Amino acid sequence: ALYYGLNALSNNMIMVDRKQLKNPNGLILGTPGSGKSFSAKREMTNAFLITEDDIIVCDPEAEYFPLVQKLGGQVIRISPVSTDYINPLDINTNYSEEENPLTLKSDFILSMCELIVGGKDGLQPVEKTIIDRSVRMVYQEFLADPKPEKMPILEDLYNILRNQKEPEAQRIATALEIYVHGSLNVFNHRTNVDVNNRFVCYDIRELGKQLKKLGMLIVQDQVWNRVTINRAQHKATRYYMDEFHLLLKEEQTAAYSVEIWKRFRKWGGIPTGITQNVKDLLASREVENIFENSDFVYLLNQASGDRQILSKALNISPSQQNYITNSNAGEGLIFYGSTIVPFKDDFPKNTQLYRIMTTKPEETVQN
Ligand SMILES: Nc1ncnc2c1ncn2[C@@H]1O[C@H](COP(=O)(O)OP(=O)(O)OP(=O)(O)O)[C@@H](O)[C@H]1O
Ligand SMILES: [Mg+2]
Repeated sequence: ALYYGLNALSNNMIMVDRKQLKNPNGLILGTPGSGKSFSAKREMTNAFLITEDDIIVCDPEAEYFPLVQKLGGQVIRISPVSTDYINPLDINTNYSEEENPLTLKSDFILSMCELIVGGKDGLQPVEKTIIDRSVRMVYQEFLADPKPEKMPILEDLYNILRNQKEPEAQRIATALEIYVHGSLNVFNHRTNVDVNNRFVCYDIRELGKQLKKLGMLIVQDQVWNRVTINRAQHKATRYYMDEFHLLLKEEQTAAYSVEIWKRFRKWGGIPTGITQNVKDLLASREVENIFENSDFVYLLNQASGDRQILSKALNISPSQQNYITNSNAGEGLIFYGSTIVPFKDDFPKNTQLYRIMTTKPEETVQN
């Protein structure tokens, strides 16, 4: 079990194991500065030290690297000027269980192209067919002889598209061109970082507006890759998405996140969404699914509107609401299955760990 704070009533330590829940999926919710990222870092550190689980974090604010570096993890900076590369076409033979790995990979590449090519109506049926056909062709050589140096990249897909006879293929290829030969070519390289490190942080802060959505989608696919590999080795994968509302705002990344919430559990994945934006979680029936399928909820201080929404959705009594009203950083309510416990956590400030986990500018250390 991992540490989550002290019981605010009894001062007992709260130690729980999310893996024992029917559904280990989790949410960390609270106003800015209430301690969301901090508690996520604490859980990660704890999990790093006492479990064998792999830990992956999607970090849109570039705030996890001091911790990840300290623990010997791999920070992957994805930006138009960085030389850390991840290849959106990475695939492994475990990628999907029942189906051919290509079916699921083709699904992902369709979402990716939808983001790149699709206007408001998305991809047309003919275009989907062409992409699917091209995806199957692009992996032929690799699947026949799965060596890393044969892993295709976006450019290979682009070339195949160019060779298709339908005019629609040319349209897709032209839309892809800027990502292959143009100024947005960060995703046109083989992976050159250690995505297999036990603790990986995808730092996407420097991805500009045009590339951010695409970057987040590609990171999610990389995580899926890892989850499938780990499942074959009976290893759990903890995946943290900070600023989760960014993913929920866009149709493709929201749909992919809903998928994660549905699919990960069976594959030994433990996803955690971290957000200050409760309303985005209830924005649509689809997204609400995420909320309903999270047996672990770490509620920190809430603004009054959100508090009302959550109190209704989670059945929080008025006296329990006090714990998430004007509470200090690191104080709130834990939902663990059907149990609700008020907690507080006053992390000692005179520690190295505190200094690499805090986001207060005056307290952070240069590592
Ligand atoms: N458990 C804790 N013990 C002591 N201090 C804490 C604790 N949790 C948070 N803090 C303090 O609060 C600050 C803000 O916390 P954190 O960065 O986690 O906020 P956040 O909820 O992620 O905010 P944002 O929405 O802006 O990302 C930390 O830098 C730290 O100084
Ligand atoms: Mg934060």
